[in-house]
Amino acid sequence: MPFDAAQQPTPVPRIAVIVVAAGSGTRLGAGVPKAFVGIDEHSMLRHALARIYDGPQAQVVIVAPAGREGDALTEALAGAGARRDLVSVVTGGASRQASVAAGLDALWGDVEIVLVHDAARALTPPAVFERVIAAVDDGASGAIPALPVIDTIKRVEAERIVAAVDRSELSAAQTPQGFRRDILLAAYRSADHEFTDDAALVAAAGHSVTVVEGDALAFKITTADDLERARAVVSRHPLTPSMAHLESLVPVPRVGIGTDVHGFGGAGELWLAGLEWPGEGALSGHSDGDAVAHAIVDALLSAAGLGDIGTHFGTDHPEYAGAHADVFLSRTLGLLGEAGWRVGNVAVQVQANRPRLAARRTEAEAVLSAALGGAPVSLSATTTDGLGFAGRGEGVSAFAMAIVVPV
Ligand code: CTP
Ligand code: MG
Repeated sequence: MPFDAAQQPTPVPRIAVIVVAAGSGTRLGAGVPKAFVGIDEHSMLRHALARIYDGPQAQVVIVAPAGREGDALTEALAGAGARRDLVSVVTGGASRQASVAAGLDALWGDVEIVLVHDAARALTPPAVFERVIAAVDDGASGAIPALPVIDTIKRVEAERIVAAVDRSELSAAQTPQGFRRDILLAAYRSADHEFTDDAALVAAAGHSVTVVEGDALAFKITTADDLERARAVVSRHPLTPSMAHLESLVPVPRVGIGTDVHGFGGAGELWLAGLEWPGEGALSGHSDGDAVAHAIVDALLSAAGLGDIGTHFGTDHPEYAGAHADVFLSRTLGLLGEAGWRVGNVAVQVQANRPRLAARRTEAEAVLSAALGGAPVSLSATTTDGLGFAGRGEGVSAFAMAIVVPV
């Protein structure tokens, strides 16, 4: 199985974002549904989603205009990267409220918190999503981002000011608006008329809704002037690939470590680092006692997350009795290949008084590398200044590190 970040186990999300994108954009008048209007070379929908993908892991339900579901899915998958399995598209309704209701029908079972977001608020930063989620996590039934109203507000009747309104009491509501799933579903079921937003609908069902800090960038693109403003923002901060996107583009290598020790006292000739050493005392072990090869096997298995040498080559495998390095290494290479890994490189160091490896280092590296399908192997050796079992000449130890790369 080839490695793919998308195939890493992903926890089932407890958060869902419903992105309503089914409006026609009458006031913008671009001739296409608003969510598909380009801000730069990317559409509003693509911009909105890129910022969602950079936020907390969540199911993403896109509510598309009838007949544009396929286009919406293409836009949604373009930047989804490792999150592509979390994305779905449903068909919207005649009103925003009907579109949200369609999105609610597509929620997965484990979702506990639902955020409803306007695709038209395409530049809303991920931090706003995080603040809304945090408020609901802290116990709020619902939470919406809002900004203080800056303009002086008047109540007007028949072109005459009838009252000044204290603007300190006012907030301009934005999206995403987040709610506990059960509360939002029940409120939608009981809604008997159109509300201006989800917070109003939930409040009408008897729940209090908290306000968190909004963001000027969460403005709604409604008119041509708003689109100009969005274009100016994006020209200063173009859409960079989200981390979610990068995860799937950049294969992540993995490092592993392995050590092995064998004592002298085996029968026959010494085998070490894949070479036979005539005249040197043999190491003891179930196989040939080649601590260098065994340390490399452990490092490779550890890097690939495939256990260790005992998992695959234990004494319950009689076929490995007396086997040499090439058998161990080529079998390990096979195990890695089956799991979707190739070997980047291996570095191994031996601690031993004897044999003197320096004279045959190149030969040993070539043998070990060949057994690993040509991956570079570098071998170094040291004595231990007379200290320890290696210093006393009782045995050898080897330390290996390996990098494996997804195929
Ligand atoms: N929306 C929706 N379904 C509808 C109407 C609106 O999903 N039937 C979505 C829009 O796509 C938008 C959000 O609700 O992301 C806010 O609506 P608005 O800004 O009013 O967008 P439009 O309805 O598309 O624009 P207009 O009112 O100018 O036609
Ligand atoms: Mg509208």
